[in-house]
Amino acid sequence: MVDKISFKDKVVIITGAGGGLGKQYALRFAARGAKVVVNDLGGSLTGSGNSTKAADIVVNEIKDSGGIAVANYDNIVTNAEGILKTAVDNFGTVHVLINNAGILKDASFKKMTEKQFTDVLDVHLNGTFRLTKACWPYFKNQNYGRIIMTASPAGLYGNFGQANYSAAKLALVGFSETLAKEGNRYNIKVNSIAPLAKSRMTETIMPPDVLEKLLPEKIAPLVMYLTSDECPSTGSIYEVAAGMFAQIRWERSGGLYLRPDESLTPEAILNRFKEVSDFNKPGVQHPTELNDYNKVWSVTSSLPSNNQGSIKIESLKGK
Ligand code: NAI
Repeated sequence: MVDKISFKDKVVIITGAGGGLGKQYALRFAARGAKVVVNDLGGSLTGSGNSTKAADIVVNEIKDSGGIAVANYDNIVTNAEGILKTAVDNFGTVHVLINNAGILKDASFKKMTEKQFTDVLDVHLNGTFRLTKACWPYFKNQNYGRIIMTASPAGLYGNFGQANYSAAKLALVGFSETLAKEGNRYNIKVNSIAPLAKSRMTETIMPPDVLEKLLPEKIAPLVMYLTSDECPSTGSIYEVAAGMFAQIRWERSGGLYLRPDESLTPEAILNRFKEVSDFNKPGVQHPTELNDYNKVWSVTSSLPSNNQGSIKIESLKGK
């Protein structure tokens, strides 16, 4: 049977592809014909040190199986341009960008230093920004681009000890949603994944018997589908682990609508707060755009007054 999804003649940059999930992506993209830039700084889990070894091993493995790959050892934070240059110098352009490199500097928020916070944002968010920014003109000019942002369940739901990491990971979701909108007319598709799999990132925090079931190679098929010519999806978030592939979306409750006049007091909300969080009430929506606030106003402004006392700004003057 011929594989329907092919990356023949596609140039794919994968950051942090010297180990973990990125390595699995690199091997599989190459096996489907891609020309792969295997970027990896070769540092520790917390981002210290560097080595050419991790990327070289992956490139050699690809070449030994007859694939096409080139190594790049740049730090995505300090030399994202260098990663793109490796792609352009060796293969002429870039078609697919898998933003995957990442580090951890876990600590409870009380103990987290500003450096731990900013270092993690630097790699996950600023590094991803810089490389995506460098690749964007190529995508736009050739009217073709596929981008994956690697978010995390920790970003979507929060996770103890990972305030820095969660902040960075959810930031990538917003980044991706906006780029999907801006990229639409240039055939640039941008999606986020929130994976969970065995790697050095998870091996100290999850029990070995659970980890054994979370194979990192089972994340790659979704990443490949999302970056293929066959996939129409853009601006979406997918949670993926152990053979589960599920889209995550925003849900706006049926909501509480109050007349926005002086009777809109804290008590008006107190008395009906349940409605704010009522996801069973009619009117539940799954927004993908900014709300049409003009429409909201035309509804709320036609409601009767809230009858819960009022805030008289005039009477507060001088207090
Ligand atoms: P990993 O630690 O095995 O792989 C990350 C790779 O990125 C490493 O090889 C590292 O050397 C490289 N890297 C780090 N900083 C870099 C930099 N500044 N420049 C270039 N390369 C750099 O971890 P894993 O698990 O494979 O993580 C891959 C991505 O998936 C990360 O973004 C991570 O946050 C994300 N993720 C992983 C989850 C999991 O369950 N393993 C869960 C949720 C998200």
